[in-house]
Amino acid sequence: MAIRSSIILGTGSYAPERILTNEELSQKIETSDEWIRSRSGIRERHIAAPGEATSDMAVQAGRRALADAGLTPEDIDLLVVATVTPDMTLPACACIIQHKLGVPTHAACFDLNAACSGFIYGLDTASAMIQSGRYKKALVIGVDKLSAIVDWNDRNTCVLFGDGAGAVVLGGSDQPDTGVLGAKLGAYGDSVNLLCVPAGGSSNPATAEAIAAGDLFMKMKGKEVFKLAVRAMDEAARDILEQHGFHSDQIALVIPHQANLRIIDAVASYLKLPMDRFVVNVDRYGNTSAASVPLALDEARKAGRIKPGDITLLVAFGAGLTYGSALIRW
Ligand code: UT7
Repeated sequence: MAIRSSIILGTGSYAPERILTNEELSQKIETSDEWIRSRSGIRERHIAAPGEATSDMAVQAGRRALADAGLTPEDIDLLVVATVTPDMTLPACACIIQHKLGVPTHAACFDLNAACSGFIYGLDTASAMIQSGRYKKALVIGVDKLSAIVDWNDRNTCVLFGDGAGAVVLGGSDQPDTGVLGAKLGAYGDSVNLLCVPAGGSSNPATAEAIAAGDLFMKMKGKEVFKLAVRAMDEAARDILEQHGFHSDQIALVIPHQANLRIIDAVASYLKLPMDRFVVNVDRYGNTSAASVPLALDEARKAGRIKPGDITLLVAFGAGLTYGSALIRW
């Protein structure tokens, strides 16, 4: 039986203890705190400990979201994990997380790869499954350990990324017009080469030559990604507002993907919204890919920036290039 709404029952997040500052990076590669801060807004990022896998970070965030919701892992019958850095290529990271967290074996568990838009893709997918009435409680986790796939000698990329996890618990409600109101998802598949890990997949397996060429690391054309990102985020935000008949003024808080402060600035000016309506934590975490939006969402909630009845806009873009936006009424 279909139920009306998918609502957020709890949120949680986790970032590894180790903080890597711009200053430290500038001692290892040719860069500077000034360059990184002025071009991206990033001051520092968190880096997973040796042996700390994507699943370990996800478990921490998942536990916190469940505690916040007053639920236990046994209550979960759907686990969706958005990540581009699973523990292994096979099987799904969701199955590893299921086991570590103690989610029951009758729960559906799967991964989803939409890079930095992954959490919004996961939120929309899980919400539709909750709204169908076929699943009761979903745990949606956005998690990435980008430190495992960046080339620490490539200053064009390594200064921008960090590790972390964020999670939400979803449940059904008969109250109409509340919770996840809707989402707008899309992708520009013609721009795959702007941001990718060229080898390690079926088209270019992880041979000794591919490893030696550095093709198992992330490659990015930053300038092109920047331009597409601003356009995609602006359009995704406008589309979802229009679909639901909202003016940007009615949005209490925007939770954008934390890739670059200048991208967030540009989106704010296109939407004609002041920066204080945007959650910004890119300075402390860098770009944590699929973890970025749920981590910012959790921080905003815990800081009391979201009140009952508020409408929150989530918006992101990422490798693919994918984009996504979602509206939540609290
Ligand atoms: O989730 C999606 C992930 N990706 C993104 O969001 C990336 C989007 N793009 C960006 O955020 C920006 O394009 C960057 C931060 C990557 C770069 O900023 P930019 O203002 O577009 O700089 P640029 O690429 O035009 O580089 C300017 C200069 C270059 O030198 P030349 O060619 O002008 O002499 C780079 O070699 O800065 C140099 N550079 C650096 N210098 C010091 C590049 N990286 C660094 C660095 N430190 N880390």
